[in-house]
Amino acid sequence: MSTAKTQVTETTSRLRCIACGDTPDSAGKDFRCTSCGDLLEFFFPGWTSESHDAAALKSLWLRRRMSSSGLDQSGVWRFRELLPHIPEEHAITLREGNTPLYPLPRCARATGVENLHAKHQGMNPTASFKDTGMTFAASSAHQGQFRWVACASTGNTSASMAAYAARGNMHSLVLIPDGKISWGKLSQSLDYGALTCQLRTDFDGCVRILNELVRQKPVYLLNSVNPYRIEGQKTAAIELLEQLAWESPDHIIVPGGNLGNSSAFGKALLEMLELKLISRLPRLSIIQAEGANPFYRSVRDFGGKKLEPMTAHTMATAIQIGNPASWKKALRVLEATGGEVEEVSEVEIAAAKAEIGADGIGCEPASAVTLAGLKKLRQRGFVKSGESVVLILTGHLLKDPDFTIKFHRGDLFAGTADEAEALKTKALQRAPLLLDADLGVVMAALESAENK
Ligand code: F0G
Repeated sequence: MSTAKTQVTETTSRLRCIACGDTPDSAGKDFRCTSCGDLLEFFFPGWTSESHDAAALKSLWLRRRMSSSGLDQSGVWRFRELLPHIPEEHAITLREGNTPLYPLPRCARATGVENLHAKHQGMNPTASFKDTGMTFAASSAHQGQFRWVACASTGNTSASMAAYAARGNMHSLVLIPDGKISWGKLSQSLDYGALTCQLRTDFDGCVRILNELVRQKPVYLLNSVNPYRIEGQKTAAIELLEQLAWESPDHIIVPGGNLGNSSAFGKALLEMLELKLISRLPRLSIIQAEGANPFYRSVRDFGGKKLEPMTAHTMATAIQIGNPASWKKALRVLEATGGEVEEVSEVEIAAAKAEIGADGIGCEPASAVTLAGLKKLRQRGFVKSGESVVLILTGHLLKDPDFTIKFHRGDLFAGTADEAEALKTKALQRAPLLLDADLGVVMAALESAENK
């Protein structure tokens, strides 16, 4: 083992524009390049294939799991050697990350992919993957001494931001589209004390207003255009590879909304390859809902050369996004890893969600696009039966109980154009029975279920 390789705790990082390559010393309020307006990303000028001792890093990260320090117990800060430096006194952590990797035996049989796992990012403190990015970006707001942080959201970013702002003694402003986010998510931002504004528009409309607002007020923007968010979210991929003993799976499948998560996963994979923490790249595929598929159409119709914004409609409200901010970053990930992009229908999403549920692992509708997408990628022959696949489940089942209850009651598609197709999902439905409080009646229900 070479002793010349250092274990840098204060990682030197710089910002770079993904389009023109400009390397500004600091980011503007909207985190966009002042020369060309595109997104910024962090890079690490000192990193080379020789700069890190991969084996030493792996054992350092494992040892930290035994530590009682808050930073070490976080599944994000545990990997701080691969993140920009933020001084410890600014770190706001809820012990995020550390999420389980579960085998999905029933889904494996149904898809014919034997080696199928789910990394459940819904098992984070606020029940979605957003916490891994939020701990890091909220800490950077704290470092910058901001009193106010803000985001536009389909519900999970806002829930996460409100929690981390509260922990860091900052105020938070949430812009959400009225009537288009689930109650579970809305209730979180209320309880965590955010100033919650339900705007009469969609997610993309909320983003437009927020971008103007941050230019005029000293408010720190916490959407995923903020490159600190992406850095924190990278750790989910690092943790996944650690759980797989640093053996890359053949495929990783993620839902695509604003496309921050796919960008973060891809960035982590490429960096891990560069630092020789892994020896080959998994293919990272991105799945969108048919009614919110601007990225899918960009790749299919324009080879990723441009993206036409659309008005998005899907019951998977978390990914109801028509103008994804990080599409160029996500495209680079697809190209670098050889992944695919797919779209899935509303009925396919609902069925996949119940199938994941039947494996004892609840998730929210947006997360279920991964299984629905896997089925399509299997049909196309892109994923082969002997290959290993990891689905990234981004949010917990309890985020959106309305969807689940309506599905099992058979009401989800009532009166919609999908009503007939939805009949196919009948076998997956488990509606509650309303019975008299009578032992005989309950026994009869049990016997009838057993004989089914
Ligand atoms: N899954 C869930 C549960 C989400 O909440 C989101 C995005 C995504 C997938 C898509 O991830 O945007 O990184 O491609 N939710 C955001 C929000 C937009 O405001 O909570 P992405």
